[in-house]
Amino acid sequence: MAKMEVKTSLLDNMIGVGDMVLLEPLNEETVINNLKKRFDHNEIYTYIGSVVISVNPYRSLPIYSPEKVEDYRNRNFYELSPHIFALSDEAYRSLRDQDKDQCILITGESGAGKTEASKLVMSYVAAVCGKGAEVNQVKEQLLQSNPVLEAFGNAKTVRNDNSSRFGKYMDIEFDFKGDPLGGVISNYLLEKSRVVKQPRGERNFHVFYQLLSGASEELLNKLKLERDFSRYNYLSLDSAKVNGVDDAANFRTVRNAMQIVGFMDHEVESVLEVVAAVLKLGNIEFKPESRVNGLDESKIKDKNELKEICELTGIDQSVLERAFSFRTVEAKQEKVSTTLNVAQAYYARDALAKNLYSRLFSWLVNRINESIKAQTKVRKKVMGVLDIYGFEIFEDNSFEQFIINYCNEKLQQIFIELTLKEEQEEYIREDIEWTHIEYFNNAIICDLIENNTNGILAMLDEECLRPGTVTDETFLEKLNQVCATHQHFESRMSKCSRFLNDTSLPHSCFRIQHYAGKVLYQVEGFVDKNNDLLYRDLSQAMWKAGHALIKSLFPEGNPAKINLKRPPTAGSQFKASVATLMKNLQTKNPNYIRCIKPNDKKAARIFNEGLVCHQVRYLGLLENVRVRRAGYAFRQAYEPCLERYKMLCKQTWPHWKGPARAGVEVLFNELEIPVEEYSFGRSKIFIRNPRTLFKLEDLRKQRLEDLATLIQKIYRGWKCRTHFLLMRKSQIVIAAWYRRYAQQKRYQQIKSSTLVIQSYIRGWKARKILRELKHQKRCEEAATTIAAYWHGTQVRREYRKFFRANAGKKIYEFTLQRIVQKYFLEMKNKVPSLSPIDKNWPSRPYLFLDSTHKELKRIFHLWRCKKYRDQFTDQQKLIYEEKLEASELFKDKKALYPSSVGQPFQGPYLEINKNPKYKKLKDAIEEKIIIAEVVNKINRANGKSTSRIFLLTNNNLLLADQKSGQIKSEVPLVDVTKVSMSSQNDGFFAVHLKEGSEAASKGDFLFSSDHLIEMATKLYRTTLSQTRQKLNIEISDEFLVQFRQDKVCVKFIQGNQKNGSVPTCKRKNNRLLEVAVP
Ligand SMILES: Nc1ncnc2c1ncn2[C@@H]1O[C@H](COP(=O)(O)OP(=O)(O)O)[C@@H](O)[C@H]1O
Ligand SMILES: [Mg+2]
Repeated sequence: MAKMEVKTSLLDNMIGVGDMVLLEPLNEETVINNLKKRFDHNEIYTYIGSVVISVNPYRSLPIYSPEKVEDYRNRNFYELSPHIFALSDEAYRSLRDQDKDQCILITGESGAGKTEASKLVMSYVAAVCGKGAEVNQVKEQLLQSNPVLEAFGNAKTVRNDNSSRFGKYMDIEFDFKGDPLGGVISNYLLEKSRVVKQPRGERNFHVFYQLLSGASEELLNKLKLERDFSRYNYLSLDSAKVNGVDDAANFRTVRNAMQIVGFMDHEVESVLEVVAAVLKLGNIEFKPESRVNGLDESKIKDKNELKEICELTGIDQSVLERAFSFRTVEAKQEKVSTTLNVAQAYYARDALAKNLYSRLFSWLVNRINESIKAQTKVRKKVMGVLDIYGFEIFEDNSFEQFIINYCNEKLQQIFIELTLKEEQEEYIREDIEWTHIEYFNNAIICDLIENNTNGILAMLDEECLRPGTVTDETFLEKLNQVCATHQHFESRMSKCSRFLNDTSLPHSCFRIQHYAGKVLYQVEGFVDKNNDLLYRDLSQAMWKAGHALIKSLFPEGNPAKINLKRPPTAGSQFKASVATLMKNLQTKNPNYIRCIKPNDKKAARIFNEGLVCHQVRYLGLLENVRVRRAGYAFRQAYEPCLERYKMLCKQTWPHWKGPARAGVEVLFNELEIPVEEYSFGRSKIFIRNPRTLFKLEDLRKQRLEDLATLIQKIYRGWKCRTHFLLMRKSQIVIAAWYRRYAQQKRYQQIKSSTLVIQSYIRGWKARKILRELKHQKRCEEAATTIAAYWHGTQVRREYRKFFRANAGKKIYEFTLQRIVQKYFLEMKNKVPSLSPIDKNWPSRPYLFLDSTHKELKRIFHLWRCKKYRDQFTDQQKLIYEEKLEASELFKDKKALYPSSVGQPFQGPYLEINKNPKYKKLKDAIEEKIIIAEVVNKINRANGKSTSRIFLLTNNNLLLADQKSGQIKSEVPLVDVTKVSMSSQNDGFFAVHLKEGSEAASKGDFLFSSDHLIEMATKLYRTTLSQTRQKLNIEISDEFLVQFRQDKVCVKFIQGNQKNGSVPTCKRKNNRLLEVAVP
């Protein structure tokens, strides 16, 4: 799939401003704030026009990935957010496509990220340029030259753990297609003093540590070295280990890199031998020895070290020993030898070490060049990368700082020149009127230093070459005379009185106002360092070495080529190389990377504004911006400009047909941007003020929002409509399906209902028919049955007699008869006696005969009773009648009754007729006597009894005296109202008389008789037959008896046995007569 080309711009999503020409207002503070803001958001790169400012992040950021390389590849410089890759890409494409040689100038102070930047540029170019086996090898060699040079030329300093201690300029050569062919490296001014002495907290060059840590024992033995750093005077101990750096591993990397770059094994060996020799040189020590002629002389303390060095380098020990003791000066074919004192000997030793190392370094660079140089002679395109030490301001600044700062002045010079030139060229190219730009030109400072007649470097050389005593002080005096009037030179002793009282300016110093700030230089050591003297005896000794490499490093030691002319001074050498470099750079299209160090602590995320401010100042960034926007702050080609802002005007939106420039003109007219704010170049629009651009940007942003809303609106409308249509379509489908389903369901319901109804109706009809049919059938059956019955009846009627059915009944009746017959016959035999009191009766044989049996028993009993009665005479009948009457009256009422049953009622017990005694009595009574018996009459007054004859006749009751037979009382039966007696076993009874009757005057009678029952019965019967009235007989244990006027209560109580069985009667009081019954 083709990647969609998205038009972007640096202006999109800017943090602060990506290009500081757009800063408004423009001053130091805004510049720093902008850098800080971007730094805080991990935007370490910022532009000033085409210059890239890089702030060291001190941590790895994810912005160098292969994807990022792809992003920046072939994109315009201002299209994406600022990046070192954008600059690299611009430079590379300009080189490849426009045939312009390029140089990339990376400046900044130590630790600001220059070397890293140079590596990033190289790796970017390596990533985007052509590919292929050969090309890759070249790339690899170019890239691998870095670790080699860094091992020998970099060291840990307080500012940077991997500080380049040399300046490096590398030309990368390309063929016409843009494929790399090779390269050339130039090195500048290795800080060789570091070999013999390092400031506090710093280290010697990496290679020494790498060798001692990483070499095998075998190699160490061969080099006569020991692994212990502390064995070597030249290695500072306080910071021999660097955090996060593995020297041993790096040693392997370096050796590997050397192999890739093309070093032969013996060459590597030689190089390491020289390194070892340098290390061991530091261990040679001297002691003073006085000679007879009074001159000081020194002697090597311990010759063992010397011996080993000589073995290692193949130098005759005596030659070297002598070279450390004597100095030969040749003048006018005359050789003069002088002895060296101890200080001189040490100086000579250190000078040798420094020279040996720095020459080795130069040799290494040349050797690398040899390997990486282009193999063809075709015309090459060149991209130069300059990674040179930045401006240095230390507390003690010496010759080195002076030289370095001079170099930076020159770079600034060229920067100004080239920037201005480029600006001017662009104006001419674009046909825009050039306006003069005010800016600070540091040419005057460069002149102060490099002027051939009275420049500082010239003065120094003059001093060094001058016969007579030359010291740093004489040099300063000279400066004071010559440069005093220069406005950038300051010295206490100068003729100019300005600084006479400036205590910040010591006497042994001079101060230069560099473009980046004032720097105070200690004059001490200037002369020596400029001379860079190595005694000829030493160089000759070196030349005599058996070691081929060492020998080649000291060609001036060859006596055949003896050259009495002084070698060029360090200053003039440097000046010359800087001049060459400048010339070289001027022929190329410059690209600037200006590195800034955000803090002194090598720490991530810390932005020290003071420190940055200082760097911004001496890098001249503000100047840079001013120059850049002196005329027009912003320029842009017409096409991207129109592309970016075309939405701001109806005519140009969405498409402008016609040349872009015309479109931009229309656009700017439409937007009513004042004409003085912009100019039309040939291919670019020039905008004077950032304000205008920001206004455009604001309008664009607003318009984009509107457009976004519009797009959103249309899109939403479209989306809603599509959605709606889809919904509608779906709804129809669903409705159709639903209707179908509903109809189906309804139909099925109707169908099933119909079926139900139908089935009911059918059922009903069927049942009706069935009923009719059944009825019909039943009628038929009934008729048949009736007929059958009828016929049956007829037949039966006719034939009943013959039917067996009657037999049952007959049998039944017969059986029954038989049973009854048998029963009766049996009963005849079983009949009990004829005594009416016989209770026996045979048991019942059949249940159904129960009533019959009982009835039979009753009848039989009645029958035998009749039979019994029939035997009686009339008299007997009477007796029984009376007995029956007594039974009815007293049975179960009177306890005396049962004893009376067996006694025959005799009536007249006293045979008055026969007893003469009672002749008179008999005569007195005319009527028939029913009862004549003796009774006890109870005296009502005391309860005592007297015997009386009790007589009952048909009409009267008579009482007569027993002895005399004289009638005592006579009571007609009609006057007897009641007889009372107890329920007990006694014979007492009371005869109550009718009140008012004659008999009643004496009161009721109270008697006691053994024949009470008989007497009471006869009294009752007689009364009934005579008076047709039933005599009232009261049976009660307590009754009232009328005694004359009184009523006395007769009460029967339970008496005791001691009186025998005769009841006793006792009058208790007027009212009570108690009868005790035993
Ligand atoms: N772009 C970067 N990304 C991450 N770290 C960096 C970057 N630039 C520099 N550094 C860090 O800063 C240190 C010093 O950088 P270096 O390029 O050696 O400084 P200089 O050459 O200016 O003295 C590096 O070792 C590295 O740790
Ligand atoms: Mg560096």
